[in-house]
Amino acid sequence: MKICVIGIGHVGLVTSAGFAQLGHRVIGVDNDIKKIKGLMRKTVPFYEPELEKLIRENQKKGRLSFSSSIKFGVKNSEVVFICVGTPPREDGEADLSSVEKVVREVAHSLDDYRTIVEKSTVPVNTWQWIKHTVNLYNKGNTEFDVGVNPEFLREGSAVKDFLQPDRIVIGVENERAKKILLEIYKKINCPKIITNLSTAEIIKHASNSFLATKISFINSVSNLCEKVGADVVKVAQGMGYDPRIGKAFLSAGVGYGGFCFPKDLAAFIHIGEKYGYELTILKAVQKVNEEQRKILVKKVKEALWVLKDKVIGVLGLAFKPNTDDMRLAPSIYVIQMLQQEGARIKAFDPAATLEAKKILHGVKFCQDAYEAAMNSDCLVILTEWDEFKNLDLKKIKKLLKVPVIIDGRNIFDHEKMKKLGFIYKGVGKGDASIFLKK
Ligand code: UGA
Repeated sequence: MKICVIGIGHVGLVTSAGFAQLGHRVIGVDNDIKKIKGLMRKTVPFYEPELEKLIRENQKKGRLSFSSSIKFGVKNSEVVFICVGTPPREDGEADLSSVEKVVREVAHSLDDYRTIVEKSTVPVNTWQWIKHTVNLYNKGNTEFDVGVNPEFLREGSAVKDFLQPDRIVIGVENERAKKILLEIYKKINCPKIITNLSTAEIIKHASNSFLATKISFINSVSNLCEKVGADVVKVAQGMGYDPRIGKAFLSAGVGYGGFCFPKDLAAFIHIGEKYGYELTILKAVQKVNEEQRKILVKKVKEALWVLKDKVIGVLGLAFKPNTDDMRLAPSIYVIQMLQQEGARIKAFDPAATLEAKKILHGVKFCQDAYEAAMNSDCLVILTEWDEFKNLDLKKIKKLLKVPVIIDGRNIFDHEKMKKLGFIYKGVGKGDASIFLKK
């Protein structure tokens, strides 16, 4: 099929390359001309495993091209996917101005039937506004349908998530749009949930909110574990074997970040308020998440007493491993809190340094983990990159001024760290012996 994807951000670019890989002819459209020119020269604007290869392959086969013209994209395709950003406003409400602008342009460009599909994460019933706006600006009264097809791509595994998804959700109003969307995903073998447009929209918000709830839940449990001498990793294991609970998203840590969970939770809460329902549970999820970063800073203070003029080495800046994305990363909040206490920060991240430099000030960015450890009073781990798990810990110990490691992601074994002579504090691991001493 001929597909136009509007908005070449993380979601849009993976979606474009993914559709091309499924055999469709795809035009990716973005108003950022620099980005489009870069892509034409095969430069991928962000780090995502497998993506560059997929883009190059499909460009070579002539199935994937890029343009800065919505008109060109719409005229040369049968289906139009909207993947533009929906950033949060101050009050948490999603800013839909980019969606509206794009929809107007799509409406102007319609010359024959098109299925216009909303992929961006939007508040429930946005589809009604899309339909209304197309009707308003579609001077030729050209026929069209609106569809909703939320994405469930995780940064760092987005290509795999696209090509081997757990499920595909399709919201439609009629058989025609349903047939077209099913045809697009024909080659993917997974459960396909066909429903109405509002339900499809809610599925996306409810999924992200539920995952964030799981994280805040296990983080709450981890705080209690620390107090009573239990081990949250084992608690999560013991819970996770129950298929009703599941193992995933039960890693306690310094809290969730990224552009999706914080934004989507705020938007979902806002939708609730708009329709007169308070999503109390999600407000608690947000609160626990904010607390989690403060708890980590408290642990650093407990180890070093005074932070003024102390040098803290930070390992990991990206909001999670395998991405260079720094948006709303826990590292931003933790580093700023440590700086407010007068600490000096040396930091290393395998991929996110360039992005981090745009956000974090007064930080010395290091070439590797060892440089971050050198002469530091403490090492703080904020992202669980694999390369940190394989560090030469004896070397790290020699390099540190004092062997203190505060691990916000539980990447090391507590017993092993103790044996190596570290003062090591992870997340959710209480020392039962202190209670016996009491
Ligand atoms: C999330 C969802 O997982 C995707 O399904 C969804 O499509 C995407 O948002 C979106 O709405 O676009 P993403 O933000 O890429 O994907 O990242 P996740 O892998 O979900 O991680 C989010 C945060 O939760 C990270 O900061 C991670 O460190 C944290 N996390 C995750 C934990 O603290 N504990 C866990 O057990 C799991």
